[in-house]
Amino acid sequence: MTEKIVILDFGSQTTQLIGRRVRELSIYSEIIPYNKFPFGREAEEGIIGVILSGSPLSVYDEGAFKLDLHELVGRLPVLGICYGAQLTAQEFGGKVEPAPSREYGRANLAQIDPACPLFKGIEPGAQVWMSHGDTITAIPEGFTTVASTDDVRFAAFQAPAEMRLWGVQFHPEVFHSTCGMQLLENFCVGICGASRSWSAASFIETTVAALKQQLGNDRVILGLSGGVDSSVAAVLLNKAIGDRLTCIFVDHGMLRKNEFADVLRDYQCLGLNVIGVDASDKFFADLAGVTDPERKRKIIGADFIEVFDAEAHKITDAKWLAQGTIYPDCIESLSITGTVIKSHHNVGGLPERMNLKLCEPLRLLFKDEVRAVGRELGMPEHLIKRHPFPGPGLAVRILGEVTREKVTVLQNADHIFIQGLRDSGLYDQVWQAGVILLPVQSVGVMGDERTYERAVALRAVTSTDAMTADWAHLPYEFLAKVSNEIINKVRGVNRVCYDISSKPPSTIEWE
Ligand code: XMP
Repeated sequence: MTEKIVILDFGSQTTQLIGRRVRELSIYSEIIPYNKFPFGREAEEGIIGVILSGSPLSVYDEGAFKLDLHELVGRLPVLGICYGAQLTAQEFGGKVEPAPSREYGRANLAQIDPACPLFKGIEPGAQVWMSHGDTITAIPEGFTTVASTDDVRFAAFQAPAEMRLWGVQFHPEVFHSTCGMQLLENFCVGICGASRSWSAASFIETTVAALKQQLGNDRVILGLSGGVDSSVAAVLLNKAIGDRLTCIFVDHGMLRKNEFADVLRDYQCLGLNVIGVDASDKFFADLAGVTDPERKRKIIGADFIEVFDAEAHKITDAKWLAQGTIYPDCIESLSITGTVIKSHHNVGGLPERMNLKLCEPLRLLFKDEVRAVGRELGMPEHLIKRHPFPGPGLAVRILGEVTREKVTVLQNADHIFIQGLRDSGLYDQVWQAGVILLPVQSVGVMGDERTYERAVALRAVTSTDAMTADWAHLPYEFLAKVSNEIINKVRGVNRVCYDISSKPPSTIEWE
């Protein structure tokens, strides 16, 4: 049984980050909704500690998320963060009130109790990040204050020893809490006794063994996209069941320049049993005349399922459909306040229609862990470090109707941008990049000729998880060189812009 720290999610934007930070300590963590703690001896097996996340709510709100803490505390060590700390204080008889002034941003711990195990190795003056509108104004009887800032008296508290309960009003998981990792390590290792044995190699070993057991002699089908998640899932499954895995790679015609052939070759070199299907005619025919972004996505999603399904049916004895779903996809679907902004086509739909059982070997991994597993499996670096690319491909980067001619223009511009990033050593510094073909034409002059041609926008962002992103501050000289090359070499484009919007409020893709 893998030992793990459970993070109970009260809806904070940084819950995922807590999970990641714990994993960065080589400790397995799982995020589950605040009201889904698996009480019961067997279900609790392996859980060595619990962290309560922050929340957008106030503990005294009507409808505030509550948990029977009396049931949990004493059973396992518990650390409350922000809302988690306030909820704990309130539940055990303390008081939480709106702060006289909202407490946001950097703060420094002025006093620290040197005997508190949570603060071992952390010195007064350590920087922490506050982000709360409420504050604890009284801690429960018997509890003690273990850290304060000039403005926040109860920055951290400790319950009587037998309760094994701590609370911090700041966010140790965020980058700006410079002592945050030490604090989380103190909790997970020092207090909960984690052995720090979670690694890519241990994940592969246990997952391959589990897959062998789960799949037996069954045949499995997997849809490859060229992206790192489905590729790593395929190589992992291949290690477990060899040729009983059949991969299907569909070309919808809107991949990057030469991508279908290049990636297919990579897959074959990796020893995967892969079928490449060129279905581009069908996709272009169905997209003719369609300009609405959501309709485009829906058509591509439906076509993809149809093509994939037809191909998969040729493998008559398949019992399983494998997918490269990763942890953030699963957590997002539990999101408390989540609304659908864009319908991502590759989630859901297929297994029900195909009447196959679902196998998702990476569903508990974060993106950086998927990459580490790929590396450990010996996959080439260019596949592992590949930027994310949307399932509907260049279709969501062509505003308006999608045609073959426009895809070719965009592929050529995109190729120059991406190759430029690689040649300048900038590719690995951005999360993802691409070019958008705009539905406008503008006047230009080339030689002595007037031109009236298309404009494109370059988009490059930095991010850690695509949930938030900043536009990449690429050097002007680089942008100038790419712009020049695109205008000189790509027929039909006479203007290049650079997108300087962050997410939120914009999104990474334009459609
Ligand atoms: P947005 O545009 O929502 O994109 O900020 C966030 C991340 O998701 C990718 N993306 C998709 N990936 N299927 C995918 O597999 C899709 O339909 C899809 N739409 C957006 C996008 O490229 C970015 O990495």
